[in-house]
Amino acid sequence: MGETSVSGRSFEEVVLQRRSIRCYQHRDVPEAVITEILETTRQAPSSMNGQPWCFVVVRDAETRRRISELKNRFCPPEKRSFSADFLSQAPVIVVVGVDRSRSFGRELENGVLATAWLLLAAQAHGLGSVYLSAYQPHDPGLEVEIGNLLRLPEGVQPVTLLPLGYPAETPSTKELRPLTEMIHHEFFGE
Ligand SMILES: Cc1cc2nc3c(=O)[nH]c(=O)nc-3n(C[C@H](O)[C@H](O)[C@H](O)COP(=O)(O)O)c2cc1C
Repeated sequence: MGETSVSGRSFEEVVLQRRSIRCYQHRDVPEAVITEILETTRQAPSSMNGQPWCFVVVRDAETRRRISELKNRFCPPEKRSFSADFLSQAPVIVVVGVDRSRSFGRELENGVLATAWLLLAAQAHGLGSVYLSAYQPHDPGLEVEIGNLLRLPEGVQPVTLLPLGYPAETPSTKELRPLTEMIHHEFFGE
């Protein structure tokens, strides 16, 4: 495993060390690093190899503030204690969108897989991020507002909002459910 390396870190290190980061250093993220991350991201699998992605790289402070405000405004009541204020503090937000005409009916899967690739690529470059949805399952409000704000064409669906920044926090250890609870051999329960 150690022989596979991304930016000098093994794949295993990248996967094991990635955590959601919601606090960022006041340090710029060079455009070349963003490009390298997106180069890795676009290697993700996609339905019928449609590669339907668009990545809107937002650096403007006012646009970041508005994205954060939208995410808070459309937050369902049961999740109100989880503020998205931190989004506006990240130096960069990448909005992952998918072109419906290239998605073969698999918009969300295509967007989510690219997001997973992006989160790992960010970790490999020493950057922190966290998965945030750009849509609500039963309310088109958030994705419509994000689309208007970023001038997304009609056929492009925003899927995730991903802050990027050098981490300014170390998350506490994550409790993992036992693997044995998850693995079944041949049949569920075995
Ligand atoms: C579908 C999905 C939605 C999420 N939504 C939010 C969110 O709205 N706000 C947030 O701060 N984190 C969000 N997260 C991040 C999770 O809270 C985080 O991945 C989880 O607690 C595990 O922690 P880790 O990423 O550090 O391993 C989301 C993650 C997923 C996969």
